[in-house]
Amino acid sequence: MHAYEIAGANGLESWKSVERAKPEPGRGQVLVKLHAVSLNYRDLLIANGQYPFAVNFGSLIPVSDGAGEIVAVGEGVRHFKGGERVAALFSQSWLGGAQVSDMWHTALGGAIDGVLTEYQVFSEDGLVTVPDQLSYEQAATLPCAAVTAWNALYFGKPLVAGETVLTLGTGGVSVFAIQFARAAGARVIATSSSDAKLEKARALGAHETINYRQHPDWEKEVARLTDGLGVDHVVEVGGTGTLPRSIASTRPGGHIGLVGLLAQGEPIDPLAILGASCSVRGVAVGSREMFEAMNRVIALHRIEPVVDRVFGFDQASAALAYLADAGHVGKVVIRIA
Ligand SMILES: NC(=O)c1ccc[n+]([C@@H]2O[C@H](COP(=O)([O-])OP(=O)(O)OC[C@H]3O[C@@H](n4cnc5c(N)ncnc54)[C@H](OP(=O)(O)O)[C@@H]3O)[C@@H](O)[C@H]2O)c1
Repeated sequence: MHAYEIAGANGLESWKSVERAKPEPGRGQVLVKLHAVSLNYRDLLIANGQYPFAVNFGSLIPVSDGAGEIVAVGEGVRHFKGGERVAALFSQSWLGGAQVSDMWHTALGGAIDGVLTEYQVFSEDGLVTVPDQLSYEQAATLPCAAVTAWNALYFGKPLVAGETVLTLGTGGVSVFAIQFARAAGARVIATSSSDAKLEKARALGAHETINYRQHPDWEKEVARLTDGLGVDHVVEVGGTGTLPRSIASTRPGGHIGLVGLLAQGEPIDPLAILGASCSVRGVAVGSREMFEAMNRVIALHRIEPVVDRVFGFDQASAALAYLADAGHVGKVVIRIA
């Protein structure tokens, strides 16, 4: 079978096309023919040697997010049969409840082989059924970005209709956060570097938008839009470069789901958190239980994942370069077959 491997952190040159033996499903495992994968900022961090969690370089198959069809089941598999459409969990060991201690050690495309391959075997526990209305390209966007947005909104201070959610930029996580917050009956304020992207954010459901290039002090715009009160939730994808302004944008008792590290800045003054009386919670993708709950909402509300561009399987490195250019809105996808 065709696959890609990542031997080390060589930036956009990291992924090499290889031939590998097609795996066989063992006891409790299923064999999935992958039809599409989607890229995450994490894939760039790994390729650039900047990822803060376990990466098992060598002959690692990169990329965590994929969707495909079950083509064989091993002995003892109880929940799946051939022909079913599935997506793999980002962390193969976090099935439900509180975050498990080995979550990063079972993360696809980092600690263990990922999905940029024609076939992959998974434990049947490591898969979810994908909503019927989604194409494989759409379903492949869900495991990391969508589940992270879902976790950020529902597992710290659960989002309630009528509350206000602030999203930063228009990448994969943030676009799902706009869509989920809108579906929940929340008010959404979205930021972006670009007016054209903000127009797309409004089309997806953002009620108000702020261009953070035109308004570098964007927390003042958030204050203006919220009558000085601040927002109830921030889905924080920037990290130290944006967190002080996110804290200043949050109302007392509000919640910041700390997701990302897109923007570098100065160390955070903890007094700012105390002064804002908000909570800041680290978010680490999510569990199968979260993924399944999210899929029910995607199916019920006919939420369509936003696929910016689809590349061919032989264009994987070009897809990674396209993600690095950050011109996309939503997700960048590679179709495998
Ligand atoms: N903790 C977790 O479990 C977890 C899970 C998923 C992702 N993440 C992290 O979350 C972040 C987002 O991931 P992603 O895959 O959604 O990324 P992505 O799709 O590559 O998003 C890139 C977009 O982020 C926006 N951006 C960049 N710098 C910004 C800034 N200073 N302020 C506001 N927006 C900015 C830009 O959009 P505009 O041009 O519209 O501004 C850019 O196009 C990454 O740091 C990633 O590592 C963490």
